[in-house]
Amino acid sequence: NLWTASVLTLFPEAFPGPLGLSLAGRGLARGLWALEVLDIRDFARDKHRSVDDTPLGGGPGMVMRPDVVDAAIEAIAERPGPLVYLTPRGRLLDQALVREFAAGPGLRLLCGRYEGVDQRVLDAREVLEVSVGDFVLSGGEMAALVLLDAVVRLLPGVMGNAESAAEESFEEGLLEHPLFTRPAEWQGRKAPEVLLSGHHEKVRRWRRAQAEDVTRQRRPDIWRRYLASRESGEKDEG
Ligand code: ADE
Repeated sequence: NLWTASVLTLFPEAFPGPLGLSLAGRGLARGLWALEVLDIRDFARDKHRSVDDTPLGGGPGMVMRPDVVDAAIEAIAERPGPLVYLTPRGRLLDQALVREFAAGPGLRLLCGRYEGVDQRVLDAREVLEVSVGDFVLSGGEMAALVLLDAVVRLLPGVMGNAESAAEESFEEGLLEHPLFTRPAEWQGRKAPEVLLSGHHEKVRRWRRAQAEDVTRQRRPDIWRRYLASRESGEKDEG
């Protein structure tokens, strides 16, 4: 019942990558979560070990073969969690979906080259398509690393200070307030007086007002959702 990520990729050396460092890496080393990486090329059957072919109907690039991808998926059929295919065509990742993934038993991640995977294998398997943003990466690996970093830091014990995850902007449905540290004055710029006051309630109110201001100014989409969730008296779901 250890939270486990099983990754299918043509570039297994991309993992754990930066997930081997910092909080996620320490959590991995301490056995708070597990990472299994499978090379899709190991599921190629012909002597050339081919994993892709030219697109039917013509056009640039290569498409990953359905038989090879299906065999790779079959190899992790018993692994825990939803099967996620990283693609810019997918559902946009947000903190609500990250929380769902962290609350589950794990994830199975399919990384493709960006020209993509034959549609039939996506139809034949129960695949959840997820995008990490409205831009195109050259493959799913970096998207998988982004998704895993966001999820793993929410797993019990991974984040050093249990409060820091809950106190963040997105958990409140707002962007974060600005941060300051010592020195209290730097190059003639003073840190806000209230932060030196030792008055915790005043600090809390100031930060909340700052978070609301920056959210209203920069992200009207998030601001509207925040207002709506306050009105209904519910906690924001991302
Ligand atoms: N693969 C290529 N671009 C991607 C993106 N933006 N999100 C998820 N997977 C991708």
